[in-house]
Amino acid sequence: MSYEVKNQQLLDWVKEVAELCQPKGIYWCDGTEEEYDRLCGELVAAGTFRKLNPEKRPNSYLAWSDPGDVARVEDRTFICSLAKQDAGPTNNWMPPKEMKKTLTGLFKGCMKGRTMYVIPFSMGPLGSNIAKIGVEISDSAYVAVNMKIMTRMGKKVIDVLGESGEFVPCLHSVGAPLEPGQKDVTWPCNKEKYIVHFPEERSIWSFGSGYGGNALLGKKCLALRIASKIAKDEGWLAEHMLILGIEDPKGEKTYLGAAFPSACGKTNLSMLVPPEHFQKDGWKVSTVGDDIAWIKPGPDGQLYAINPEAGFFGVAPGTSFKSNPNAMHSCAKNSIFTNVALTEDGDVWWEGMDWTPEKCTDWQGNEWTKGCGRNAAHPNSRFTSPASQCPSIDPEWENPKGVPMRAFVFGGRRNNVIPLVYQAFNWSYGVYLAATMGSETTAAAVGAIGNVRRDPFAMLPFTGYHMADYFNHWLQIGRTTPNPPRIFSVNWFRKDANGKFLWPGFGENMRILKWIVERAQGHSAGAAVESPLGWMPRYEALDWTGLDSVSRDQFKELMSIDRDTWKEEILSHEELFVKMYDRLPKEFLHIRELILSGLWRSPEHWEQFTPEDEEGYND
Ligand code: OXD
Ligand code: MN
Repeated sequence: MSYEVKNQQLLDWVKEVAELCQPKGIYWCDGTEEEYDRLCGELVAAGTFRKLNPEKRPNSYLAWSDPGDVARVEDRTFICSLAKQDAGPTNNWMPPKEMKKTLTGLFKGCMKGRTMYVIPFSMGPLGSNIAKIGVEISDSAYVAVNMKIMTRMGKKVIDVLGESGEFVPCLHSVGAPLEPGQKDVTWPCNKEKYIVHFPEERSIWSFGSGYGGNALLGKKCLALRIASKIAKDEGWLAEHMLILGIEDPKGEKTYLGAAFPSACGKTNLSMLVPPEHFQKDGWKVSTVGDDIAWIKPGPDGQLYAINPEAGFFGVAPGTSFKSNPNAMHSCAKNSIFTNVALTEDGDVWWEGMDWTPEKCTDWQGNEWTKGCGRNAAHPNSRFTSPASQCPSIDPEWENPKGVPMRAFVFGGRRNNVIPLVYQAFNWSYGVYLAATMGSETTAAAVGAIGNVRRDPFAMLPFTGYHMADYFNHWLQIGRTTPNPPRIFSVNWFRKDANGKFLWPGFGENMRILKWIVERAQGHSAGAAVESPLGWMPRYEALDWTGLDSVSRDQFKELMSIDRDTWKEEILSHEELFVKMYDRLPKEFLHIRELILSGLWRSPEHWEQFTPEDEEGYND
């Protein structure tokens, strides 16, 4: 150990884990650059990492995983609360005692032939009263170096922990012990996988996977599943939300949080570059976080949010200088790439970048040629990059007090049904809209892609307790927060009858964000019309300068609400609710009825009235 550790609880736990897992040695991470370079060098020597061309991609590495270890494994993720009802119907559960027995069997001797890394980390600015300390024990150096980018990691955390500070124990193994003389593989993992959370004990055990959210335990496991339970107990929120700041030409700053399911463009939205005309007028967008928000009530009756992470673990495919220049700059150096393709000159490439090579090596090490019909990068391939390298990073991103939230935006990937944007009538309607959010499934989790599944608050895979209790908790926050953020729904993914996207997305989303800011700040510019679902912008209320590709008719289609499709939509809300009827907030039944009555009060196919229409609805 290169530094002194005075926390007896930590020392005892490390000793106990070492006895169980039988590693060849224990290494305490100090978080220095020298250590990072050394571990990366060892990963290169082991064949796990490839150093990228330093002229193209300074101080950066590429890893290719086992083809069976490429995404979060939701069916192997467990919330082992003492009582089954507390995990709820949407989480996998096993009695904690039984699960501990199974895991103890699996972890016994599982680190043989490997080094056991002790990785102290802080989620949130070090020493802030919002931050939480975790210690991950892992037999993966890949995990250690990724944790250095994603969290505040190393000796400084041990100093803050002191003799009696609390920490969340996070135990991780790739589950691939080495017999003496056995040659290692470049990406060790195990077919059997368990990602397990003990919410009452506040501990995490992860076995068998070395990939992303399964292995970097500060992220989904601690900052969402365990933190959501802590937040419920303590009266705050741990959310799957990006946080961004929007500054208007007068210098007024508005922060908002936005929740989208995995791989639906949160990173892009958090780093949005406004269209030229907005920039000229003085609009600025800045990034506080791209994936997770911890949100607490402040003394002034507003909610304040911090980003507990220190890096981005972004989805690579689709990221380009055109779609997200800030992300491209963030990963220009000091980054780790996983499962992207390798170019002939030692740089990285993925589908959707600004150019396409004639030839490269795909994420499985095979030769790839342009037009061969295969993906060169895995659809869930990632870059791990320091947030501090993001050109749009907000000056307040490390402020331990957080930033004041004025709006929450919820969105999914829906090719139909859901309008481009609307504002909930009030907090309870907003909680209902977030609770009934649906999205087409993506590559971020193992399973079929493209089916619509209900993903309440984009938190279905990340809530560490009963989902209906989570809805109640949100309603309770609304009751006790004098000045809560306004709640909005967005859908960038609506398509026309020919399957073509109706909305250009990316930077053009600024037009919608501007309206949201005006509504959230109560400015009269953000005028709205009442629809059966909530408040919507009229065509005239949006700023269309410089965008010719969306016609008035297209806008009408984007905003339209069809009674028949909504009837089905509401029936499928019911499917989710039936599962959790015993704890479902009673408000939801009333809101559902009110939405239904709104749909029946309006035309069968509700379209926005525009001034040239002779007969408008709801003028
Ligand atoms: C992520 C995810 O990695 O949501 O952020 O899967
Ligand atoms: Mn995420």
